[in-house]
Amino acid sequence: MFREFAIGVNTKNMPALLCYVLLYFASGVSSDLSPPGCGINDVGFDYTTLPKVTRKRIVGGENATPHSFPWMAALENRGVLQCGGSLLKGSSDRWFVLTAAHCFRGTTADEWKVRLGVHDLSKTESSSESIDVKTAMIHPQYNTQTLEYDIALIELSSAPQLSRPEINIGCVSGDVAKAGEVCYVAGWGLTSSGGDQSDVLQLIEKPVLSQAQCRDIFGSNTFYEVSMICAGFIEGGKDSCTSDSGGPLMCYRNNRMEIIGTVSWGIGCGEPNSPGVYASASGGKQWIEANING
Ligand code: ARG
Repeated sequence: MFREFAIGVNTKNMPALLCYVLLYFASGVSSDLSPPGCGINDVGFDYTTLPKVTRKRIVGGENATPHSFPWMAALENRGVLQCGGSLLKGSSDRWFVLTAAHCFRGTTADEWKVRLGVHDLSKTESSSESIDVKTAMIHPQYNTQTLEYDIALIELSSAPQLSRPEINIGCVSGDVAKAGEVCYVAGWGLTSSGGDQSDVLQLIEKPVLSQAQCRDIFGSNTFYEVSMICAGFIEGGKDSCTSDSGGPLMCYRNNRMEIIGTVSWGIGCGEPNSPGVYASASGGKQWIEANING
């Protein structure tokens, strides 16, 4: 032990030592699921201008700045928007979209298309591209009854055009969500329970609730702490809704947006005392990592 240290401080080894120190600092910020350049946008949008202290009132959302969340994917089944997702890069030029497992119920991979670089689904945007799905992988612990581990990975059949400013990869955070942190959800889903979808990407801010609070609200037979997190306002008003599923719950940390969960379920949308429930990214991290880099 002591000898190693003595060798370490020898000036000849300074560059190596410096390397270790730099690696050590970098490791907290960068990982396989948060590669350099993820979670930022190329349209000059400053995430720090997003609301941090929330006012009342997807449901209750507002139009996102076009392409400010360039990892956002619209998942269409036979041409109809069904879910959201986030673009991730795997090893050896393989590309994936992180989404919800329940999106694939009763469907086959060939029915799906992933639209990237989109803002307004009703328009033919030159920034957008539509990519076929090679396979959809469901988390092995996904439970169709309880919705535990409601996460899936789609492998894209071809590489997206990352050179476009409107398309970038997302960062997946391995850190557990912090209660009280104000995070964001985006999606093209229903703008009210039983209402219409939105053509333009919607955005809301939402505070993450503590696991104890989520458990108290839903009960421990409904809210499973290992694989779920919940976020929203006790007074209701702002929430994700149908067809937002699979889309990211993201928080601004380390100068970028980090995905901490994916839209999973809720009781109604935006009802008081009924926050939205998200599949936890930290709960699924190992599986995600193994699959995109395997
Ligand atoms: N399960 C819904 C879907 O298929 C998502 C529901 C999210 N609901 C909510 N209240 N946050 O799109």
